[in-house]
Amino acid sequence: MAKSADYNLGPNTFPRGWFIVAESNELDAGPLAVRFFGQDLALFRGASGKAVLLDAYCGHMGTHLTDSKSSMIVKNNEQIEGDSIRCPYHGWRYNAEGHVDDIPYSDGPCPKSASIKSYPVVDNMGCVMAWYDPDGREPDYEPPKLPEWDDPRWVRWELDHLGELNIHPQEIIDNIVDVQHLGPTHGAPSEYFENEIKDHVCIQRQGGPMQLYQTYLNTSTWYTGPGILLSKQEFSGMVVFELIANTPVEDGLVKCWHGCLVKGSEDVATEADIVIAKQSQAGALEAFSADFNIWQNKRPALKILQLKTDGPFRTGRKWYSQFYAAPADVSGIQNTVNGIHLTEGLKTADQAGYNIDEGLTF
Ligand code: FES
Ligand SMILES: [Fe+2]
Repeated sequence: MAKSADYNLGPNTFPRGWFIVAESNELDAGPLAVRFFGQDLALFRGASGKAVLLDAYCGHMGTHLTDSKSSMIVKNNEQIEGDSIRCPYHGWRYNAEGHVDDIPYSDGPCPKSASIKSYPVVDNMGCVMAWYDPDGREPDYEPPKLPEWDDPRWVRWELDHLGELNIHPQEIIDNIVDVQHLGPTHGAPSEYFENEIKDHVCIQRQGGPMQLYQTYLNTSTWYTGPGILLSKQEFSGMVVFELIANTPVEDGLVKCWHGCLVKGSEDVATEADIVIAKQSQAGALEAFSADFNIWQNKRPALKILQLKTDGPFRTGRKWYSQFYAAPADVSGIQNTVNGIHLTEGLKTADQAGYNIDEGLTF
């Protein structure tokens, strides 16, 4: 499998940004051992409801904080206290900031050297999202949030857990600028197509006839950072937001999720709306699976033989490289890629007379 260095993405192995690390309801069953960014991590929900993500290994003797089922304090459900977690081995207690604040058999001060890294985490649209930055900086943008998530007219997604894919996320990101696969792969060729880049956001607007439902599809799709894609899709009177998320597990191995938030027919979504929403998500997953299947079986595209009538792959890759760049280089990269990017032979959304961006905040 190809690695970040093979794509010349920058000095960092893993991209900075907001990433999905779990579906929120996964934490209801107790703490989780997860692995992302080449690291073992401990994920749990504190008593206040706050989701906490820590480096996995206890500073005392290296025990994984959330990977024991047999330790008695785990069995007794005594591991979580407030928003803190006790190590299953000797019971040292870690707070949400990753500092030891209690040792059951010591009155002395807790050693600061036992502290472990804590990651910024938010519960957002049914997902646990964590901020990862190899340079240790605080978040410099907000994760995406759709106001429709909190509108009872809309049927919320339950995520499809697509598991791990043995490719570099670059191959997934390429899709946002890849106009010419939409016909052959998805049966929905673009009649108009454009990309717009605004700093950490990369937008695609496109539309055309859609074979599957014999209708016309308009979409506005955007990455907020390197890991979370949302796509507003209008067809046959339906409005759907699709979520596709990728989070690096190892260099060249990525975990993916998928879901659809679907507009219902009444002020409060009905049972029938819920059925239609589930069908929509299944249909969207089938379309996405066509990409997934190609990615699984292709060789890495370390260089793309780009035609003028392909989408702006090089620009898209440059945009993506900002997340691997040294902090001092990020704004320089953004300045070189910000703006509208057109593809030869294709109309813009304006020229085609479509605007489905209304109400979207990128
Ligand atoms: S290894 Fe964690 S408390 Fe001892
Ligand atoms: Fe695709």
